[in-house]
Amino acid sequence: MALDISCFFLVALFSASCEAITSSDQMCIEKETNKTYNCENLGLSEIPDTLPNSTECLEFSFNFLPTIQNTTFSRLVNLTFLDLTRCQIYWIHEDTFQSQHQLDTLVLTANPLIFMAETALNGPKSLKHLFFIQTGISSLEFIPVHNLKNLESLHLGSNHISSIKLPKGFPTENLKVLDFQNNAIHYLTKEEMGSLHQASNLSLNLKGNDITGIEPGAFESTVFQSVDFGGTVDLLVIFTGLQNATIQSLWLGTFEDVDDKEISSSVFDGLCEMSVESINLQKRSFLSLSSNTFHCFTNLKDLDLTATHLKQLPTGIVGLNNLKKLVLSANKFDSLCHINAASFPSLTHLYIKGNVKKLDLGNGCLENLENLHLLDLSHDDIETPDCCNLQLKNLSHLQSLNLSYNEPLGLKTEAFKECPHLELLDLAFTQLRVKAAQSPFQNLHLLKVLNLSHCLIDTGNQHLLNGLPMLQHLNLQGNHFPNGNIQKTNPLQTLESLEILILSFCDLSSIDQLAFTSLKIINHMDLSHNRLTSSSIEALSHLKGIYLNLASNSISIIPSSLLPILSQQRTINLRQNPLDCTCSNIYFLEWYKENMQILEDTEHTLCANPPSLRGVRLSDVMLSCNITAVGIFFLIVFLLLFTVALIFAGKYFLRWKYQHI
Ligand SMILES: *[C@@H]1O[C@H](CO)[C@@H](O)[C@H](O)[C@H]1NC(C)=O
Ligand SMILES: *[C@@H]1O[C@H](CO)[C@@H](O)[C@H](O)[C@H]1NC(C)=O
Ligand SMILES: *[C@@H]1O[C@H](CO)[C@@H](O)[C@H](O)[C@H]1NC(C)=O
Ligand SMILES: *[C@@H]1O[C@H](CO)[C@@H](O)[C@H](O)[C@H]1NC(C)=O
Ligand SMILES: *[C@@H]1O[C@H](CO)[C@@H](O)[C@H](O)[C@H]1NC(C)=O
Ligand SMILES: *[C@@H]1O[C@H](CO)[C@@H](O)[C@H](O)[C@H]1NC(C)=O
Ligand SMILES: *[C@@H]1O[C@H](CO)[C@@H](O)[C@H](O)[C@H]1NC(C)=O
Ligand SMILES: *[C@@H]1O[C@H](CO)[C@@H](O)[C@H](O)[C@H]1NC(C)=O
Ligand SMILES: *[C@@H]1O[C@H](CO)[C@@H](O)[C@H](O)[C@H]1NC(C)=O
Repeated sequence: MALDISCFFLVALFSASCEAITSSDQMCIEKETNKTYNCENLGLSEIPDTLPNSTECLEFSFNFLPTIQNTTFSRLVNLTFLDLTRCQIYWIHEDTFQSQHQLDTLVLTANPLIFMAETALNGPKSLKHLFFIQTGISSLEFIPVHNLKNLESLHLGSNHISSIKLPKGFPTENLKVLDFQNNAIHYLTKEEMGSLHQASNLSLNLKGNDITGIEPGAFESTVFQSVDFGGTVDLLVIFTGLQNATIQSLWLGTFEDVDDKEISSSVFDGLCEMSVESINLQKRSFLSLSSNTFHCFTNLKDLDLTATHLKQLPTGIVGLNNLKKLVLSANKFDSLCHINAASFPSLTHLYIKGNVKKLDLGNGCLENLENLHLLDLSHDDIETPDCCNLQLKNLSHLQSLNLSYNEPLGLKTEAFKECPHLELLDLAFTQLRVKAAQSPFQNLHLLKVLNLSHCLIDTGNQHLLNGLPMLQHLNLQGNHFPNGNIQKTNPLQTLESLEILILSFCDLSSIDQLAFTSLKIINHMDLSHNRLTSSSIEALSHLKGIYLNLASNSISIIPSSLLPILSQQRTINLRQNPLDCTCSNIYFLEWYKENMQILEDTEHTLCANPPSLRGVRLSDVMLSCNITAVGIFFLIVFLLLFTVALIFAGKYFLRWKYQHI
């Protein structure tokens, strides 16, 4: 018997999320009520009246304010951040920012400044960050900063400045960043550098200036956090000029478009006369590299030789005994043994990623690096049928190993026995060949993070993840399970410490009810981008308070019996499912509205059915599934008629029966 249910829908569509403020057809976007506004690129020539006096952060770039004065911003007394990038400002009048006492950051980037009054910055005494990038200025005298005692960073890139000499009275007490990149500074004198001597722990950026000379001793009076000479053609100039300098980090790399000189070994001799902890020589090339080239590097902790065209490091290099961190990425080694690791026995961090050639791991090439904690061998085209015990011999302190993005690796039982202290193992996007019934990760007692995403692993192997008692984070994204199903017996069952499990893009269509029973302390489960229907939710019934991502699956109707399982979770994402918004799903739709606080991405959680509601947010659907009065009337009439018909039929049948006796 068909029930006469009549449904009707009411859809309330609310306006778009961002509230907008209108001003002469133009709209500023409110990002935080009464505080943060974005008025970018609206062709405005004044501050719109609709902007509240309480505005604190204002992004006002790409507008039109050729001159600014004391009245321009006077209303906005609580401004802390003001971005005036590319507003065609050329004239900044007296006392322009007199009312902005709280101003912390002022961005004047890309304005063709001609004049700035002496008193322009008198108001914002707590100004910390000032941007004058690409403003056409040629001298620091142009900027009236004398009262800015709190200034921490001054950005002056892409101007015509030829001297870094700070004017008298320039506030250096709190100065931490002085950025002169891409200016016209060619020579650094002792006097100019002396003006910085009060600043301590300064980061000085001179990248992209064609420095051709430094007066000896110019750097000796100041302690620098970092100095960046990126792109300087002749490094000899720098090493002779930096005598007696104390610099934490020295950036001496170069760029593709710079026609630099090859470095001869003697260039680094100057390093014996200075104190530097970290050097970056990215993209430089060495004229010759001998075991003596680095003899002045004895105090160095950190050396970056990314893309320095290296095929080999010489044996017995002198001077790298104390090195802790070495980056050899994007070079041309044929074999890992060609780095001659015995020269830097104190190393704790080694990065060789993106090697230009196919890297052969060799046997025991790193066995002297007994202190190594981190090894990054990603993107190296490594391919080996039997990894990794011979290759990683003696790396007993290794905690983090990255072998992601390589060619197929064969792994046998206890493949990482040489590295019993591993805590993180990243094998993402590297195809793994594991024979059935073997357990490659056996005995990694401390392993916490294992990334097996897109490894094409055999998930039918019950022993795959044996022996990982501490594993907290497992990523299996992009691996497939037999028949798209996670069975009751599966390799996840031994992972009792697991907290985060990623099973997205696994082409799953079902999960057995008992598949996850041993996962007791999970708090984050990503099942997105599969083909799951609501029946798989049953497998989560023992889990509480988790973050559950079910986005992009095939869930359409969720029966009421499964709703308590969802209710007990912390956050749920259901976006991009073909959700049914008819009366067949009424229990779920009601539950949805009552539980909005635990639902994520509700803006994008939409109905797929019926066609009239496709694309409507679930939260906006109003469904009434009661039997209407008319429906009840017809139902009663129908039942009545049916009964009468039955009685008549009965009577007729009896009569017919008696007549035929
Ligand atoms: C924003 O300002 C208006 C008017 O001053 C005030 O009524 C409202 O409560 C403020 N809202 C917030 C979130 O501060
Ligand atoms: C500026 O901030 C102060 C302190 O938060 C507040 O008392 C004052 O009302 C604000 N001024 C405006 C115009 O909103
Ligand atoms: C702006 O400056 C003018 C001339 O110096 C002065 O008369 C006026 O009072 C100032 N306005 C404000 C809001 O301080
Ligand atoms: C904003 O500040 C201006 C000038 O200080 C004042 O005239 C105006 O009444 C203020 N507006 C509001 C809404 O408080
Ligand atoms: C120097 O600055 C760096 C970052 O700029 C900071 O990490 C470091 O702690 C500072 N050192 C001192 C001694 O202030
Ligand atoms: C560097 O310091 C040493 C000893 O303090 C001194 O003899 C030498 O002249 C200094 N070099 C320069 C270039 O100032
Ligand atoms: C292997 O490591 C041990 C300490 O863990 C060290 O004593 C030994 O010298 C290393 N072997 C080689 C060949 O360097
Ligand atoms: C491993 O290397 C890849 C590629 O270089 C990188 O994306 C990934 O973040 C690294 N893994 C870890 C844990 O740092
Ligand atoms: C593998 O997962 C770890 C942990 O989430 C992450 O840090 C790492 O970046 C991932 N590797 C790649 C190649 O994405």
